[in-house]
Amino acid sequence: MATLHVLLACILALLVCSAAAAAAESYSNKVPAVFVFGDSLVDTGNNNYVATIAKGNFPPYGRDFPGGKATGRFSNAKGVADYIAEVFGVKQLLPPYLDPSLDLPELLTGVCFASAGSGYDPRTPQKMNAIPMTTQLNMFKEYIKKINASVSPERTQEIISQSAYVIFMGSNDLTNTYPTVNYRYTEESYTDLMISLALDFHKVRPEPEPDQNTEFVAKSISLARNYISSP
Ligand SMILES: *[C@@H]1O[C@H](CO)[C@@H](O)[C@H](O)[C@H]1NC(C)=O
Repeated sequence: MATLHVLLACILALLVCSAAAAAAESYSNKVPAVFVFGDSLVDTGNNNYVATIAKGNFPPYGRDFPGGKATGRFSNAKGVADYIAEVFGVKQLLPPYLDPSLDLPELLTGVCFASAGSGYDPRTPQKMNAIPMTTQLNMFKEYIKKINASVSPERTQEIISQSAYVIFMGSNDLTNTYPTVNYRYTEESYTDLMISLALDFHKVRPEPEPDQNTEFVAKSISLARNYISSP
């Protein structure tokens, strides 16, 4: 059963990715940076720096990566987040934000905040001590401060407002948290989780106009509902 779930998640990831690739093609070389949030499907190595059992830094992970190195990506080679950065024409590999060796050019073109084991449901990351979404967002806020201290406020603003943001998760909620005895998602409760995250996320973007905010929330609700109610 667990294998089936993982397989389904992988197929879903591939489908989502080819759709994302098609969408990204039209944005190629038009975004300054790419930011990815989520779980193991997109974690490029943040969990190397976290006390968790959800790690991808040992063989056979990475056996087809340059040098055969297990980097923390949950893949034999590059990960989904790297391909997202690539199709946006930004760079070949999207580094994990927690890597302390990142230089300024690397930071300015985007990083990955994802953590294997995380999910929309705040209970999901607790199971594996993964980085919750609220923390991933706080890391993004810290990132903004960091680059703002190194480049002009105008350049910082440009990066925040013109970059591509990808949130990629949910499968851990379904495989790890949903089956637990005392907890069941309903269409309503799961949509609420996604919406509250979307709202928190939107608040991080500087100076949202109130009416833009309302429109954004309405769109998020309708997207989330369509997504959850589709078979
Ligand atoms: C960047 O720093 C300036 C002060 O130097 C500040 O006015 C501005 O709000 C900061 N931008 C962001 C996005 O935090």
